[in-house]
Amino acid sequence: PLYTEPLRPQIHFSPTVNFMNDPNGLVYSNGTWHLFYQYNPTQNVAGNQHWGHAVSKDLYHWENLPIAIAPEEEGHGIFSGNAVIDFENTTGFFDESTPKDQRIVAFYTLNTPTSQTQHLAYSSDGVNFTKYPPAVISRNQTQFRDPKAFWDETSSRWIVALALSQEFGIVFYSSPNMKDWTEVSRFQSYGILGYQYECPDLFQVPVEGGPDDGKMMWVLAISINPGAPVGGSFVQYWVGDWDGSKFTPRDNAVRTMDFSKDFYAFSSWNNSPGKKAYAVAWASNWQYTNVVPTTPFRSIQSLPRELTLKYYRPAPQFGDLILNNKPANLSALGGQTLYRSNGTGNLGNQTVALTGEGAFNIVATFKLPAGTNATYNTIGSFEISSGDGQQSVKTGIQMGEPAVAFIDRRAAGPSFAADNPFFTDKTSGIIRYEANYTSEQHILGPLPPSAHLSTTGRDQYIKLQAVVDRSVIEVFVNDGELAGTSVFFFDNDQTPSQLKVSIGDDKLELVSLRVRALDSIWA
Ligand code: FRU
Repeated sequence: PLYTEPLRPQIHFSPTVNFMNDPNGLVYSNGTWHLFYQYNPTQNVAGNQHWGHAVSKDLYHWENLPIAIAPEEEGHGIFSGNAVIDFENTTGFFDESTPKDQRIVAFYTLNTPTSQTQHLAYSSDGVNFTKYPPAVISRNQTQFRDPKAFWDETSSRWIVALALSQEFGIVFYSSPNMKDWTEVSRFQSYGILGYQYECPDLFQVPVEGGPDDGKMMWVLAISINPGAPVGGSFVQYWVGDWDGSKFTPRDNAVRTMDFSKDFYAFSSWNNSPGKKAYAVAWASNWQYTNVVPTTPFRSIQSLPRELTLKYYRPAPQFGDLILNNKPANLSALGGQTLYRSNGTGNLGNQTVALTGEGAFNIVATFKLPAGTNATYNTIGSFEISSGDGQQSVKTGIQMGEPAVAFIDRRAAGPSFAADNPFFTDKTSGIIRYEANYTSEQHILGPLPPSAHLSTTGRDQYIKLQAVVDRSVIEVFVNDGELAGTSVFFFDNDQTPSQLKVSIGDDKLELVSLRVRALDSIWA
């Protein structure tokens, strides 16, 4: 049977066989979420790029469809891009009989040995695509790729963002019909540059809480590879204004979406219903993706994420709005409760047997009582170990100053890690919000000096969630204020089998814990 290998995630999308990288063409059409992706149909390493295709009604249960777009010539690749709904048939590609929300236009980069040019393909049935042969944007150069288009309400025309990869620029074009494009502006040389820019995404995100609650604001995300602070591939973003022609960031702070190493080529869904923003990223890293020990496939997409913007205190090293990033509607997944605490007393350390198909949602609230002098040993952690007890992956919060969350995979899959120096052991991110949960209610507020030390004042609460799925762990602090994504590979066909929740130096209290086994989406 398919999708049963020990390292095969059960609630994440992966192709049946062979190599996948970036998500492409994310669009919601006629009640269906489309996921296209960079796909090599002939080998389990990157290359020979096609657009693979899958669809879902709930962002979790995926149905595999035939390859959507294939190159015409050997040595050519259909590189990353996106898709839009051409409601008003501005392209002229559609019959008037095609329902408006089924008019899908894909926008991709054709990679050849001598050029990268931008092309369209269209579909009226959401399955079969017809290419529009001429390049619609060409600059006679390589390193020019990854179109992200959208219908811009501000200027009533199409806009596309493209990466001038090795000039560290994002160039924006406008068009009335997606065929004739005019350059309108550039966003150049902000933040971390790395080796090159890839996969730009300009999209709207609702603000959650604070004075602008419900307002849509603009975010520009850029993928960089190599050159991540933690090595290899990473995504940075800016919050700013889009005036119909130009993106202006609120500040030049560098913000990353994920503190770990396996979250790249981030892309948001076009045409999401409601004023909501959904996105997904490729849960891998170019530093080791071609050699990870999974077979007959390589790579998965991250959990689908729901995004909002939240204010937090201005501080010299950060801006004042951050992207909150949490799993979209996990309740779409069936499952069984393995542990659920009742009451709010200190549960101390806990051990829970992880029975099921290898996918689990683990949510804990820790309390740091007022008057506690926390140090770097004040740790609340989850240790998820293999059935043979020999291997584990760990995540936790460390309440010193700064307070951080971490993922530690040094004891997971020693044979792969030993051969791969870039398979970084441990990654951490700073918890920036005031951590204050009471009955799951988050109170936003200014972060006082030494907030996380809690030596005076009031109790601090902090929420840690880990979604573990055979060979990937995604960690969310305080419902997505901080997120980290790491793959890990247990040796000897082992799967996650036991959870240990521990309190480091007894200064923290574990006040709630829920563990749910999630049913496979492939069953
Ligand atoms: C990002 C990327 C894109 C490119 C695609 C090729 O991971 O390098 O820039 O379009 O992958 O597969």
